[in-house]
Amino acid sequence: MRHLIDILDLSTEEITGLLDQADEIIAHPEDYRERCKYKKLATLFFEPSTRTRLSFEAAMLELGGSVLGFSEASSSSAAKGESVADTIRVVGCYADIIAMRHPKEGAPMVAAMHSTVPIINAGDGGHNHPTQTLTDLLTIRRERGSLDNFTIGLCGDRLCGDLKFGRTVHSLIEALSRSTGVKFVLISPEELKLPSYIKKDVLQAKGLQYSQETDLAAVMPELDILYMTRVQRERFFNEEDYLRLKDSYILTPEKLAGAKKDLRILHPLPRVNEISTAIDDDPRACYFRQALCGKYVRMALILKLLEA
Ligand code: CP
Repeated sequence: MRHLIDILDLSTEEITGLLDQADEIIAHPEDYRERCKYKKLATLFFEPSTRTRLSFEAAMLELGGSVLGFSEASSSSAAKGESVADTIRVVGCYADIIAMRHPKEGAPMVAAMHSTVPIINAGDGGHNHPTQTLTDLLTIRRERGSLDNFTIGLCGDRLCGDLKFGRTVHSLIEALSRSTGVKFVLISPEELKLPSYIKKDVLQAKGLQYSQETDLAAVMPELDILYMTRVQRERFFNEEDYLRLKDSYILTPEKLAGAKKDLRILHPLPRVNEISTAIDDDPRACYFRQALCGKYVRMALILKLLEA
């Protein structure tokens, strides 16, 4: 039985296979409408979510299966003190596969140790968010035709903006470290820089090209992809630091003036105000297409883990 806790759980070949499968589903959705008939997905979300939870549920419904679950810890017996291990043992009696989001890093790993059905990590604290990474990879490949040979600006708490706390950025860097010819430009305020363990263990260890910048507009002309992220209020230790840094990197039409004509702008969403809505109709803005890719790649993942 396979789980997906970390993007590193998947080989490069498996990731390529999932992206190929997602492309196939997009091309022929009618072929997949009964592939998970009589199967049930449980979505256990101990933290808020719109895209991840609903795209998982839409994915299972479009595969002909059913969904059950909860969208907040307070409506589950976690509020009475039930452990993750006990919750998972019980939900495994009702569902064939579980997607779980939890604020504590490592909680999905604990779940996997006690589960009789496949567990998918739908985000654990500031740690990992592997299905967002699969979503990002599918989006980049569909927009550019390849996962090789580009310069990506990571702006925020993962890539552009707040790189320190962003689980989406950490997982994406891990995944793109397997590509060739990718240059990383890490754009963030000093306080929100990418953790040194990511730089040391991934970027430096693999000899990847990267630079650290604080001025988004200055590096814009060299970027093929700009990956924006939200400065995450919930991961700050104090409100004062959050209020001081939250507007550090707002993408406006003026900042895009020097950008390439074929730049692609990604954002895992939700955005707060880090991308001006004036950019939404620019064909270079991919973030809503990216959200749609999330449903298809999660369909591919459910099929793989259920061997359906
Ligand atoms: N991108 C993402 O994880 O969005 P949600 O928090 O809405 O699931």
